[in-house]
Amino acid sequence: MTTLKKYMDEKSQLFEPYLLNLVEALSAPEALKESMSYSLKAGGKRIRPMLLFAALETFDGKPEKGLEAACALEMIHTYSLIHDDLPAMDDDDLRRGKPTNHKVFGEAAAILAGDALLTYAFQVIAGSTAYSPEQAVKLIQMLSFAAGPEGMVGGQMADMEGEQKNLSLSDLEYIHHHKTGRLLSFSVMAGALIGNADEKETALLEKYARHIGLAFQIRDDILDVEGTEEEIGKPVGSDESNKKCTYPSLLTIQGAKEKLKEELQKAHEALGSLNRPAPLLKAFADLIANRVS
Ligand code: IPE
Ligand code: IPE
Ligand code: MG
Ligand code: MG
Ligand code: MG
Repeated sequence: MTTLKKYMDEKSQLFEPYLLNLVEALSAPEALKESMSYSLKAGGKRIRPMLLFAALETFDGKPEKGLEAACALEMIHTYSLIHDDLPAMDDDDLRRGKPTNHKVFGEAAAILAGDALLTYAFQVIAGSTAYSPEQAVKLIQMLSFAAGPEGMVGGQMADMEGEQKNLSLSDLEYIHHHKTGRLLSFSVMAGALIGNADEKETALLEKYARHIGLAFQIRDDILDVEGTEEEIGKPVGSDESNKKCTYPSLLTIQGAKEKLKEELQKAHEALGSLNRPAPLLKAFADLIANRVS
């Protein structure tokens, strides 16, 4: 077993029950809780929370301190997927190897489960005793920025507007940085904040996060072409059928792979300038660039 796999297995034991309990503990309609839990439990890779723990532990922070931020992040990520799959958006039937939320619970419940996960995420951070009031406000500010109009939602809008259009590479980079990069960056930046990284270290991690964020979505685009439904747990060819401009469609598969390699290299360079060892973050960059699921 690789060190990273072992690390992720260990952290999962901390993270998974905590995440599910947060929903279980809610005093809310059972149907809503069921729809929220269904997608949370559907078998996501948990890259974002694991990356948050890895960044935190790079700065000697205790992983327990990352729990609420990691759960909030995974809730927001999961909400973004529930809404992304809706008929009005990508109209996909399969997610995380299971029928999409709206296929099981209907569109209205899927929309509400997404709304609930988004809103509850902030409640979880605000109610945490692990953070000082200053830290909590900063985390909420960073997460709302990453998820909102200047982050994921803005990227999703630009992505939709770009359908059936010939985008330039810089348009596409804008989309990728926002729809995917910002939330991935939050993983790293939240870990750095909770772990009390200094200003110089934070700036280097920001650079690292930007490159792995872009790498993650380039790999996603490649997998949409080259992956199998069994491996990726979602339909392949979704981008082509939605006439999406992607890295492979703009640069060819080969060009997309080269761009991915460049981003990976830059992520490693940023870590190389950090004045402390960061083996987990290095392994995460490699995992993101080479993932097959
Ligand atoms: C999928 O993210 C959506 C993108 C941002 C490309 P992941 O590949 O991390 O999805 P899960 O959480 O493992 O299902
Ligand atoms: C959307 O990108 C990423 C989100 C913000 C949800 P995609 O539409 O490419 O994600 P997948 O391929 O459906 O996971
Ligand atoms: Mg989409
Ligand atoms: Mg999609
Ligand atoms: Mg995709």
